Amino acid sequence: MSNRRDWPHVRLMMATTLDGKIATSRREAARFGSPEDARRLETQVAWADVLLFGAATLRAYGTTYRVRREALLRLRQRRRKPPQPVTAVVTSSLDLPLEMPFFARQDVPRVIITTESEKDRATVQFCGLAEVIARGASAVDWNAVLAEFKTRGLKRVLLLGGGHLNAELLSLGCVDEVCVTVSPFVFGGTDAPTIADGNLAAKHWRGEPQLRTSKLVGEEVFCTYRFRKRSPINSSVRTQ
Ligand SMILES: NC(=O)c1ccc[n+]([C@@H]2O[C@H](COP(=O)([O-])OP(=O)(O)OC[C@H]3O[C@@H](n4cnc5c(N)ncnc54)[C@H](OP(=O)(O)O)[C@@H]3O)[C@@H](O)[C@H]2O)c1
Repeated sequence: MSNRRDWPHVRLMMATTLDGKIATSRREAARFGSPEDARRLETQVAWADVLLFGAATLRAYGTTYRVRREALLRLRQRRRKPPQPVTAVVTSSLDLPLEMPFFARQDVPRVIITTESEKDRATVQFCGLAEVIARGASAVDWNAVLAEFKTRGLKRVLLLGGGHLNAELLSLGCVDEVCVTVSPFVFGGTDAPTIADGNLAAKHWRGEPQLRTSKLVGEEVFCTYRFRKRSPINSSVRTQ
């Protein structure tokens, strides 16, 4: 088991409605944040070395985020970082259509995270399009994946959902910070996703989140919570 010191800093960023939903029950791409939310998101993308998505989120959006603002591109250059962070997507089905705009971008380094049992299939399927990182025999070993990021100098992970992946990493104690945008919408729907879906979060929740910042801008509230330090984890779980 690797040590927490081997992990990068993991910052979770999500937008939620007043009733705690991150999308409607159709689970389509969530685009209800304001221009201010989009501006803050791009700032966080520029902060990151890695953007981490669950496969269902990538399937919903079809693409990833990029740094576009000149000032942020210059900031990354000053910090000796490549213009765009790596986008890493976790999947076991490998059901990621290659026609998605995500795979057409020339300027975005792509990583597919999967299990060792899917490694050969993934290597063939994503050849020339994405690097494959396979850790864990039949379930992804997050300790090993996070340690691999750190070894490569990827010290800042921006976790961008969706609910199942968030729940998994929250329940394992991998998340250092949570940035939440509360937007003035009510979606309803018992099947609509939330920030932490799946069955494990309540049972395995660790650390008490502490409110660090909150800001009201227009009709939205932007909050940042930090988690206390946690112990090393047994890191192969799935929430679905
Ligand atoms: N409001 C917001 O800020 C926001 C942000 C992001 C997403 N969303 C919304 O969230 C919804 C998607 O969330 P979701 O909870 O349904 O799905 P998700 O967390 O995005 O993705 C779940 C999928 O990720 C893969 N996965 C997760 N953990 C894995 C592991 N340990 N090993 C292997 N694969 C793993 C699996 O993919 P395979 O099925 O391919 O095996 C799994 O089905 C969408 O509606 C999206 O719009 C909202």
